[in-house]
Amino acid sequence: MAAFQTLASATEPVRMVLVGAGGMGKQWIAALTANADVDLVGVVDLDMDAARAALDAAGLDGTPVGTSVSALAAETGAHAVVNVTVPVAHHPVNVEAMFAGLPVLCEKPAAPTVSLALSLAASAEAAGQLLMISQSRRYYQSLAAFRSEVGGLGDIGMVTTEFFKAPRFGGFRDEMQHVLLVDMAIHAFDVARYLVEQDPVAVYCDEFNPSWSWYRADAAATAVFELSGGTRYVYTGSWCSDGLETSWNGSWRVSGAGGTATWDGEGQPTVERVSASSADDAPTATAVSESADAAAAGPEEIAGSLAEFVSALRTGETPSGEIHSNIYSLAMVEAAVTSAETHQRVLIDDVITAALADAKANERNDAVRAILEGWESPAAIGKR
Ligand SMILES: NC(=O)c1ccc[n+]([C@@H]2O[C@H](COP(=O)([O-])OP(=O)(O)OC[C@H]3O[C@@H](n4cnc5c(N)ncnc54)[C@H](O)[C@@H]3O)[C@@H](O)[C@H]2O)c1
Repeated sequence: MAAFQTLASATEPVRMVLVGAGGMGKQWIAALTANADVDLVGVVDLDMDAARAALDAAGLDGTPVGTSVSALAAETGAHAVVNVTVPVAHHPVNVEAMFAGLPVLCEKPAAPTVSLALSLAASAEAAGQLLMISQSRRYYQSLAAFRSEVGGLGDIGMVTTEFFKAPRFGGFRDEMQHVLLVDMAIHAFDVARYLVEQDPVAVYCDEFNPSWSWYRADAAATAVFELSGGTRYVYTGSWCSDGLETSWNGSWRVSGAGGTATWDGEGQPTVERVSASSADDAPTATAVSESADAAAAGPEEIAGSLAEFVSALRTGETPSGEIHSNIYSLAMVEAAVTSAETHQRVLIDDVITAALADAKANERNDAVRAILEGWESPAAIGKR
């Protein structure tokens, strides 16, 4: 049985309300209108003019707008919600939607803190609804091919990501604390989990601001994670690195018992396998190849997460970004920030344990608090 309510019809287009008509909301309008399995039936924003302007720009004037997700969903007969508001609004909007009987596909990060993300996971259980976090950088055909090659390398020793970009954003990012770790690194951390199918155990992170940085706070970091299978994941990134920039997905290398695979974050991966005919022989390289596109063609980026969300609602199959599992990606960020601040190695379980105590103390909804009280340790939260 599905852990969440599925749709009554497996063929009828899913009627969806979009919440948040900002920069990313406009991209979601394009993704929603391009998907034949979905009908965009309304747009919610605190700023109704922004909602109307976004719809006008897409040639969708006449689509209903409002400021309340539950009210507009009831008015339009919506089946589901996409939440593309700012991170601080993710918790209240998701909770309102789920308790109005609507499943939610929410932009990353799930919430500003692990504590609030735990409240969201318990709220999803209390409401019996699917809450999926859209980690759009999981959805690339070349990443699927890379993952398939990594799966053939046997035990994995190390995974590395190098992320070097030099964007001049202007605005809030130039001022925010831990800008690289909080605003960007979650994408790579989440992909690392997806790639080797292991969860994070601990992290040591060093963060600093290069002398020429145009950011007020630290915009460069190296984080070394221990993962549950013993693999070490090393992320090195900078957001003020002009010249020879990497792709937005970063450059990846995976070193395993059976060889090495690399991915530049854009093109097809490359793999070199080794084999030893007997235990005494030195391994010999057998092939350096551009990976064949092993993965089935499928939609990429937010179109990919939208397709997985719709499929989950129709089949009851748990999607990869379901909130319980996504908490571990958010916890990687929070643990890396704590490590950078304290100069100590930080255990992921300690981060989740502290967040759980905080969530229990601050939860106002009785049904949600009862579920949180039933979670005595990080292991009890479970994954779906
Ligand atoms: N996946 C990606 O690559 C990617 C890229 C950019 C942004 N994002 C994420 O998308 C989300 C939105 O980012 P953005 O750049 O579009 O932000 P934005 O500030 O441009 O837009 C946010 C919109 O939400 C509205 N809003 C805020 N609180 C609201 C509430 N309570 N109810 C209704 N509307 C509300 C604002 O009025 C604004 O129009 C963030 O979570 C961000 O991290 C993801």
